[in-house]
Amino acid sequence: MGAKKRRDRKSRIPLSADSADRHLLYEASVQSVDFEVEFIGKTFREITGRKARFLREDFCGTAALACEWVGLDPQNRAIGIDLDGPTLEWGRQRHVAALGNDSSRVELVCDDVRAIRDPKVDAVIAFNYSYCFFKRRDELRDYFRVAHDALADDGLLFVDAFGGTEANSEMIEERVIGDAIAPDGRKIPTFTYIWDQHRFNPVTYDFLCKIHFEFKDGTRFDDAFVYDWRYWTLPEVRELLREAGFRDAIVYAEGWDEEEDDADNEFLPREEIEEMAGWIAYVIGVK
Ligand SMILES: C[S@@+](CC[C@H](N)C(=O)[O-])C[C@H]1O[C@@H](n2cnc3c(N)ncnc32)[C@H](O)[C@@H]1O
Repeated sequence: MGAKKRRDRKSRIPLSADSADRHLLYEASVQSVDFEVEFIGKTFREITGRKARFLREDFCGTAALACEWVGLDPQNRAIGIDLDGPTLEWGRQRHVAALGNDSSRVELVCDDVRAIRDPKVDAVIAFNYSYCFFKRRDELRDYFRVAHDALADDGLLFVDAFGGTEANSEMIEERVIGDAIAPDGRKIPTFTYIWDQHRFNPVTYDFLCKIHFEFKDGTRFDDAFVYDWRYWTLPEVRELLREAGFRDAIVYAEGWDEEEDDADNEFLPREEIEEMAGWIAYVIGVK
């Protein structure tokens, strides 16, 4: 939770394969909840003409995003849903507890996202490609229908997507994470995040991906997270959103900064982008 983090450099977090906390490392490696809540708030206002207040985070894991949302404004509320009880408990003890009195505005529910249609919310958020757990068209369409039912009349569903020429190739990508801060304010010692696109089947688009971590003492935490996904293309996601009842499915993607020779970090509605090695995008289902 970006700006609110208190730095405490005295006590160090131990980092070795036998002591590492995988949720802490996951959040430090892949999540940018401060950017995401800002994007959600701004985009919701642009599309609906009003402020989002009540947000549902599906596949919430540690509910970092739901709690960031609640901490943003005293009128904000959130519900987080995940199948995994211990992961939710990790989030309760760190993110929900850190909200203090405001924690009454966030509720975490241990269930299948497809089982929950109430209460009605302004926005349903399903990030880090979690809809890819659903491998059949009817399964994904059913999930999108549940999200549609859970929304207020003008509500929005936000999902993310990734693509590019390297998106579903079998490959390993490593990133050194050197400046991360834990939810309790302590600095996380430098470690390496390893994204392993382990196996892709071009016939079914089944896509097995893994996250490993490597530490400075030379030890590794292999298979910290394993995702048995189907890779869905943007046109498929848009078609299924419409089949599930959404009246529109808008792709928000970055443009290209010629001077920097890099993506420009501005997610805007786009009907065309240039193909590149890797891109990420948001798809917004409009009820
Ligand atoms: C890739 S993590 C996403 C965590 C978080 N949303 C994020 O953005 O980083 C996927 C999470 O989805 C949960 N999950 C998978 N299938 C689910 C289902 N059908 N209903 C609820 N949660 C599910 C898993 O337990 C896991 O915590």
